[in-house]
Amino acid sequence: MYIILLGPPGAGKGTQSRRLAQEYNLKIISTGDIFREEIRKESELGKKVKKYLEAGLLVPDHIVIELVKSIIRYPECSLGVIFDGFPRTIKQAEELDRLLSNCNRKVDIAINIEISDEDVIKRNTYRRVCINCGRVYHLIFDPPKTSDICDFCGGKLIQRKDDKEDVIRKRLEVYRQWTRPIIQYYSEKSILVNIDGTKNIDEVYNQIKTVIEKRVKKLRSHNPPD
Ligand code: AP5
Repeated sequence: MYIILLGPPGAGKGTQSRRLAQEYNLKIISTGDIFREEIRKESELGKKVKKYLEAGLLVPDHIVIELVKSIIRYPECSLGVIFDGFPRTIKQAEELDRLLSNCNRKVDIAINIEISDEDVIKRNTYRRVCINCGRVYHLIFDPPKTSDICDFCGGKLIQRKDDKEDVIRKRLEVYRQWTRPIIQYYSEKSILVNIDGTKNIDEVYNQIKTVIEKRVKKLRSHNPPD
């Protein structure tokens, strides 16, 4: 299955994709996580994209598309992928369709997690991330057991550089201009499902699971096993 998680900054795409990947044995392609890791390693790619992430701007399409093209060839992607934070522009969405159709695949479902602008600010401002394993926390809604320490690996929790309020507002503006039109793109292909992202993490997860199970059933009824 090829699943896209859409939604504004902080909607919960990363939180949900990690749980879904485990449950359905899917590979996650999170362009944001990959860029942050490359910046941390100070790689050539990291150096190229750093300024965009820190300013809350989109990395140019050609860089993102090249990256996804190279990852999607990995054998583990043939079992299915959850895309988190990609596509972000119509051009990226069209390119993804092309890439998948080249290997006789397609996007099965685009899940749009909806939250208000006020929630966007609250979710991102209070987010903390483990510097070691990348586990994401929220100081109010999903706090670590010990302040500033990851429950899982004991790593230090930090605030993302783009989680400062002025950058969050810029990311939201960029989302409205470039990424929101993708909702219409998938709606026209009849694969868009809207999810109420304001519920707690478990409730959002259950809503998404219901949608996926329904889609799996439908796919199976069209392609019954031999
Ligand atoms: P990216 O990392 O993709 O950032 P984003 O889309 O802004 O999304 P976030 O990671 O901020 O939020 P999320 O929806 O994953 O929420 P999370 O689960 O963490 O991209 C960063 C940058 O990289 C971009 O600005 C751009 O520069 C670049 N980039 C990346 N992809 C690109 C692309 N394709 N094209 C061009 N540029 C690209 O949750 C947020 C917080 O809320 C957490 O604290 C969490 O614990 C909490 N939370 C989650 N769910 C709930 C809930 N239901 N209730 C309460 N709290 C919750």
